[in-house]
Amino acid sequence: MRMSKRMENLQPYLFVEINKKIAERKARGEEVISFAIGDPDLPTPEHVIDKLCQAAQEPANHRYPETAGLPELRQAIADWYHKRFGVSLDPGSEVLPLIGSKEGIGHIALCIIGDGDITLVPDPAYPVYSISTMLAGGQTYHLPLTAGNNFLPDLDAIPQEIVNKAKLMWLNYPNNPTSAVANIDFFNRVVQFARRHSIAVCHDCPYSEVSFDGYRPVSFLQADGTREVGIEFHSLSKSYNMAGWRIGMAVGNADMIDALMRVKSNLDSGVPQAIQYAAIEALNGPQNCIAEHNAIYQRRRDLIIEMLSDMGLEVQPPKASLYVWAKVPEGYTSVEFANDLLEQVGVVVIPGTGYGKYGEGYVRLSLTIPDAALVNGLSRLAGWHDTKRPFKPKK
Ligand SMILES: Cc1ncc(COP(=O)(O)O)c(C=O)c1O
Repeated sequence: MRMSKRMENLQPYLFVEINKKIAERKARGEEVISFAIGDPDLPTPEHVIDKLCQAAQEPANHRYPETAGLPELRQAIADWYHKRFGVSLDPGSEVLPLIGSKEGIGHIALCIIGDGDITLVPDPAYPVYSISTMLAGGQTYHLPLTAGNNFLPDLDAIPQEIVNKAKLMWLNYPNNPTSAVANIDFFNRVVQFARRHSIAVCHDCPYSEVSFDGYRPVSFLQADGTREVGIEFHSLSKSYNMAGWRIGMAVGNADMIDALMRVKSNLDSGVPQAIQYAAIEALNGPQNCIAEHNAIYQRRRDLIIEMLSDMGLEVQPPKASLYVWAKVPEGYTSVEFANDLLEQVGVVVIPGTGYGKYGEGYVRLSLTIPDAALVNGLSRLAGWHDTKRPFKPKK
């Protein structure tokens, strides 16, 4: 079969490969403990499922949805943004439901990027930002995220000729994979930079509700003048454990929302309506599930941090996100360390380089691992450490 040229540059998605490796081992009868994907293991809240079941019985919801989504859903998203961040949105022009935020993140590149245009993408980062740029015919310029700059891009370090050609910039806080957070001062600087150079900003914010120790992440839309330069992507996947239902949203700059709506309405037919009703219930209904989930994730975070620290790995407890970003032991690359854990003790972690070359020296562990598997995984890590002892434990 003769495929398009762009397929030559399109590798299988990171997790497709990782899941294949896990499946092969399971087929050989090996038990694998995975700290890999950030896919909430906790169930969708009961009242949301009840609404979904009820809506599924309604024949009106068996028909095609509108790409723009139900007006009630757009209103619920606007209300939620106001309650949560104090941000006012026009539900008619500044809100667009998505079939999971990944869908919109993929499609927005088609709205802004053409042949040879540049997208500024953090490194390490969620792979879809660069892949969608490539599919749209553009090129990615990587913005290094390092411990030295608190995993925030250094906007002043971008060469002038790149700034001149850049049309789009991606940001993501709380960050996947580094778990770093950003404050409003940083977002204000981003808005000024974007205005100065006419660069559209997409802030990807699916982890704003997953936070610990009382920390509350901010929205990009809380910065001054954001609405002139950008949009924010949000998701119900992590906030309400709804990853399997596929629903998210884009909010902000009306021109970008309109362009995304135009692309989408030509390619997809929107979010199934029963799922839209479930999302309305999640956004408008009781919010105590968020604190309950975070308490569970925080306990897991603490157990993982304790174990990794005992192993002598350098690691900061994350304030938010579903991830622990840990330095690999001296003498290992990210891939070598991840492979060693898999080969020796059947534990899956993601090598930092899966998210870009600046992820070298790190691995990512997800907090979305059920408690029994977590305990098993941690004791395997302890076992690995006991047999190897390739580096000195801190304690
Ligand atoms: C940074 C980031 N953005 C977007 C997504 C996609 O979320 P959704 O389930 O809404 O498509 C993920 C999923 O893991 C993510 O980590």
